[in-house]
Amino acid sequence: MTEPRIRVVATDGDARRETFAEDVRRGLTSTPKTLPCVYFYDAKGSQLFEAICELPEYYLTRAEAEILAASASDIVSEFDGPVTLVELGSGSATKTRHVIEAILARQDTLHYRPIDISRAALDDSAGALSVDFPRLTIDGIEGEYAEGIRRLRGEAEKARLILFLGSNIGNMSPDEAVVFLSAIRANVSVRDAMLIGMDLRKDADVLERAYDDSQGITAAFNMNVLERVNRELRGDFELGAFRHAARYDDVEGRVEMHLVSREAQTARVAVLGLEVEFAEGETIHTENSYKYATDQIDDIARRAGWEVRRRWLDGRQQFSVNLFAPVTTPGR
Ligand code: AVJ
Repeated sequence: MTEPRIRVVATDGDARRETFAEDVRRGLTSTPKTLPCVYFYDAKGSQLFEAICELPEYYLTRAEAEILAASASDIVSEFDGPVTLVELGSGSATKTRHVIEAILARQDTLHYRPIDISRAALDDSAGALSVDFPRLTIDGIEGEYAEGIRRLRGEAEKARLILFLGSNIGNMSPDEAVVFLSAIRANVSVRDAMLIGMDLRKDADVLERAYDDSQGITAAFNMNVLERVNRELRGDFELGAFRHAARYDDVEGRVEMHLVSREAQTARVAVLGLEVEFAEGETIHTENSYKYATDQIDDIARRAGWEVRRRWLDGRQQFSVNLFAPVTTPGR
């Protein structure tokens, strides 16, 4: 019998359900109210996100795909020998295909280790990739980034290329990004590298349209987190009593997404025994998407023990793909 080429394992489901409940309690009893964006991505949310990636207003995915299509060979040529591919927040792994192709042009087989919070996204992407790339073996992990970082620990046989694409890093503040990248730095060797897709600062209109599209898909994506609270924690949020809002804060360099209460109202979350009061116009802050200037990217890398070895931009200079290499000298 041959080894299966796909394996997907889950991290503890019960523990994750409890974390959801506690995170919702904390967020909805805070001032201002918040809900963590990690909870957008159940099966429905992951599908909505895929639809967002195709929207005319959401330039990020297309810009990054353009870069990877044009430069994947160039990117992987930064490695001397064979590599293993790790991906944090792999999603549908559509753009990853460019990288996989470029690697398989240089080596016979490739071990791909995606990690994602959506089981459905992992199963679908692993299935499709294994059909299209017979020389690929896939080890998927259903879990959060922290789990992915833990699994980087220890000696690796081959150099590792760690993908962190799609502006996923944009959900962290610059300081949080430094903490996160430092933790990864602590678990990798000098021959490993990270490829990080980071969105660039630009006109507020372009940014706000990207997060408030004309078809209302982003609004549905945002609203889905309340549907999840209703379904999984027996909440009674009335979706029609909230509206989606996205605004760019040029000082912070971030797009904020909010759910705005259209009226004064009270919602209940039965599993938490919680009553939540809203004033008219009060918001739940559901996401930050940070946008960077290239010198800020260099700065974050340096503060986290990395350096930007190479950077690629799309033709319209809307998005950046950055190859982070570990710095060995203690020059922090
Ligand atoms: C998946 C975090 C990169 O911030 O652009 C898309 C999520 N939110 N539209 C982003 C998102 C609203 C997306 N990331």
